[in-house]
Amino acid sequence: MPPVPAQVPTSIPEQRPAVRTALLAWYDAHRRTLAWRPGAGSARPDPYRVWLSEIMLQQTTTPHATPYFLAFTQRWPTVSDLAGAADADVMAAWAGLGYYARARNLLACARAVAGGHGGVFPDTEAGLLALPGVGAYTAAAVAAIAFGRPANVVDGNVERVVARLFAVETPLPGAKPELKRLAGMLVADDRPGDWAQALMDLGATVCRPGRPLCERCPLTAWCAAFQSGEPERWPLKVKKAVRPRRHGVAWVLHDDQGRVALVRRPGEGLLGGMLGLPTSDWSAAPAGAAPPARAEWRDAGAVDHVFTHFALTLDVRTATGQWAGQGDVLWLPAAEALSSLPTVFRKALERGLA
Ligand code: ADE
Repeated sequence: MPPVPAQVPTSIPEQRPAVRTALLAWYDAHRRTLAWRPGAGSARPDPYRVWLSEIMLQQTTTPHATPYFLAFTQRWPTVSDLAGAADADVMAAWAGLGYYARARNLLACARAVAGGHGGVFPDTEAGLLALPGVGAYTAAAVAAIAFGRPANVVDGNVERVVARLFAVETPLPGAKPELKRLAGMLVADDRPGDWAQALMDLGATVCRPGRPLCERCPLTAWCAAFQSGEPERWPLKVKKAVRPRRHGVAWVLHDDQGRVALVRRPGEGLLGGMLGLPTSDWSAAPAGAAPPARAEWRDAGAVDHVFTHFALTLDVRTATGQWAGQGDVLWLPAAEALSSLPTVFRKALERGLA
């Protein structure tokens, strides 16, 4: 086991001012330009934009979230505009970001702010936490970034930075409370939003998961992982159980006008209420299932998609024909279907159109 320097973390209170000064100076010089982030030195950002970006960033990376953020804020510039949107429009705009429960919560929260708070976000962590779909992380992030509250904002990036800084030997996810406590010891009243974002930017660009760029890091003087010579050893992780795999068939049925047959999924369950391609059941073993049309089905290959609790392989079959499946069908032009479908079905449709 690599040696762990003895002076951390008991020395946090003494070291805190120097650590903070170093990281905030680094942030001033190297902060990322992000669509939801006003330029350095400008007024505090709009809480709506902070909240929206934080919800999106829990789903995906900054490059992937950016076009969604721009589209949402162009179409719904205020929280009250979003609150007034039709559910289906928001769901369709969310397609590709995953986890539709979050989009439903997004709307519920927008409506709570518009309806119960006169369109103004609460400006404390506790007030934010009381909103639907706003968890501890989001409440802390919005409180710090939008309202300058000294909240302890801890996401995966921050956990990694802190785990390395203090060479925390407890593996994740069990280490979370310890990492949060250590991160909290570095929080102060000065520039809370910048501090939170500085830690996140450091984790995203320098203290990266795979190969940390320690030569660019402003915190090496205090970093136990760096001093061990093996920084990528942290954070320690408990080995994950292997996800089970399910299999199914997705049918891409065309009509003679270039449209594709879609179905509305049941309201409850995975991708509930969303548009989808017609598919067989998703089961542990690939099984023969009746297609939704009598047609000459062509095998178009398979696509994989990973959900939280299982991985899915969908065999994609395509044909031109008339709907003979169960339930109602919705015929949409292929381009429109591509932009309205959740990612798993978009992948399958892309394969079916190839
Ligand atoms: N990840 C999530 N929120 C972020 C933010 N505000 N800045 C940088 N990275 C983030």
